[in-house]
Amino acid sequence: MKVLFVCLGNICRSPIAQGIFEDIVKNNPTARSIIDFVDSAGTANYHIGKLPDERMRKTAIEHGFNIDHLRGRQVSVKDFEDFDYIFAMDKRNHDNLLKVCPESQRNKVSLFLSHNTSTKLTEVPDPFHGDEQDFIDVLNLIKEGSNSILKKILKDADTVAA
Ligand code: 4NP
Repeated sequence: MKVLFVCLGNICRSPIAQGIFEDIVKNNPTARSIIDFVDSAGTANYHIGKLPDERMRKTAIEHGFNIDHLRGRQVSVKDFEDFDYIFAMDKRNHDNLLKVCPESQRNKVSLFLSHNTSTKLTEVPDPFHGDEQDFIDVLNLIKEGSNSILKKILKDADTVAA
């Protein structure tokens, strides 16, 4: 399975989601046997080739994740073919993905927090114009959402195998 996280700029939310999810998969043998690729992208083209935002990188390091090797890229139509799961951080990006997504691949696209049972939030807020605490909150929210997403993928795989 290939998993893609999508936000607007691919420098704050989706790179930390990639870093956290890669870490979760690495440490879970069942997940490792099912998920072979994790990536992130932005719907906008503002930050192609750029490092993740330095505030996100700093927050990541402080929480045991390193995302310094990641670089921004923009979503392409080919991603809908290449990936099995595409998780959008907010409704705006979810809607923009669906605008360009081929009909046959639409079931791959969902809101990142729509698989989460323990938060009332439906979107991961954009921290770009926020403060340090906003970046910490985003990281924690994404950590929680990532665990729910892993459960969903493992459950789907079980259902397919059964
Ligand atoms: P992200 O945050 O979508 O979580 O990467 C943003 C990064 C940059 C901008 C907006 C959101 N920007 O407008 O440049």
